[in-house]
Amino acid sequence: MTFPIEERESSVHPAAKGVYITTYGCQMNVNDTERMYSLLEMADYHPVETPDEASLIIINSCSVREKPVHKVHSEVGRYRKMKEANPNLRIGVGGCVAQQEKTKLLKDIPMLDFVFGTDAIDKLPSIVSEVEASDEKVNSTKFLHNQPYQVETLIRNPGVSTFVNITKGCDNFCTFCVVPFTRGRERSRKLSELISDINGLVRRGVKEVTLLGQNVNSYKSDCGAGFGDLMKAVAEDTDILRIRYTTSHPKDFNQELVDISQKYRDKICDYIHLPVQCGNSQVLDRMNRGYTREEYLQKVAMIKETIPGVAFSTDIIVGFPGETEEQFQETLSLIEEVQYDGIYAFKYSPRPFTKAAKWEDHLSEAEKSERLERVFALQRPIALKLAQQCIGQTYEVLIEEVEDDGFCIGRNTQNRKVKFLGNNNKSGDLVMVRVEQARPSLLQGKMLLDQ
Ligand code: SAH
Ligand code: SF4
Ligand code: F3S
Repeated sequence: MTFPIEERESSVHPAAKGVYITTYGCQMNVNDTERMYSLLEMADYHPVETPDEASLIIINSCSVREKPVHKVHSEVGRYRKMKEANPNLRIGVGGCVAQQEKTKLLKDIPMLDFVFGTDAIDKLPSIVSEVEASDEKVNSTKFLHNQPYQVETLIRNPGVSTFVNITKGCDNFCTFCVVPFTRGRERSRKLSELISDINGLVRRGVKEVTLLGQNVNSYKSDCGAGFGDLMKAVAEDTDILRIRYTTSHPKDFNQELVDISQKYRDKICDYIHLPVQCGNSQVLDRMNRGYTREEYLQKVAMIKETIPGVAFSTDIIVGFPGETEEQFQETLSLIEEVQYDGIYAFKYSPRPFTKAAKWEDHLSEAEKSERLERVFALQRPIALKLAQQCIGQTYEVLIEEVEDDGFCIGRNTQNRKVKFLGNNNKSGDLVMVRVEQARPSLLQGKMLLDQ
């Protein structure tokens, strides 16, 4: 689908109606929300800051952990008074909870006017006009498994750095994860379409793209190109300055990818989010992750050897069904061995449709909480030590934001946030900064003037 740029940036139509969207979950949902706003703007809606200014409210939901359906119920509940005062207010739920619950949500929450699934975003304007025209409720939650995945990036005001979907769905069926059920089968965008999309973003001022998918390294274009070919093409055939990607799956991370990252190191960033989930091979097998502890550690060692200074982050689940104290300790020893810059750790949460939810050896909440706290306690000093090792180092920083007082905020190639006083710089500039102070969440330093 292609929309002329002038159309996207048209000023607010006098008859425009307000739309308010709340977003939960991952970057994919953040991107989807941006797409919804863009599509609805073309249908004469304009974004509003608060729900009480809106005639259309959408909840873009996430189902990956902890009581997601409950969250949707309570958010819709907060709009009850508005809906009673204004019967023309329309409320819909999109995203992964909508895909998971379908018409059940409409039955259980009478105030809802529509639900739409993760493959129905491009239909949103027609769904909304259908809902406006009648009092009928609309359910649009069919997967489009048999259609090619073609989505030109729609973003109203791309900044310096933006996300570009390269795949949708997931075929891995990790036994804890709801995503294959809420996002459907994995499909990849065409390589040629992606290159022209990224070139279009470069023309609009974008300097950095993050290639986005549940498992980016299983990308496969219909011409046969894999993820390595895609990275090479983005590096060679576009003028983008920096390339990032998330999420890569350890089982699909191979030497070819590391070699390409090394060859195009001037563009491909030295930062890899490589979710391990657990440090014990038996648990990894029960999770259906497709790698052992040893294989994971070998890949990390291979990457560190080829790309010295590369930064890693990871996701960890504690208290997976049947996880023993000894098995959990292997997660702790793996954290110690890898030395991650950052860890996103979660208590296991049973999800609908998944295999692990049906097992009987679940741990108590208290055990899960205690293990989670131990992960954080171990990681805190590691993160601090790694941050402090940055003091005295000089990094190239891509400026993303310039504050009124002249301070600039950007990131280095290892994805660390860096703050420093600029010299009439603007966002999008690449500058060298020497680090003087360091916390895990922020480096501060001085910009080098004679570059
Ligand atoms: N595709 C990515 C992850 C997407 S979900 C990957 O394979 O790495 C993001 C993270 O949420 C996962 O990495 C996992 O750590 C966490 N997660 C997913 N399902 C979960 C569950 N049932 N309970 C707790 N955490 C979960
Ligand atoms: Fe979920 Fe596993 Fe797919 Fe990631 S790879 S989205 S954790 S099923
Ligand atoms: Fe949540 Fe769906 Fe993303 S379940 S994490 S919004 S893919």
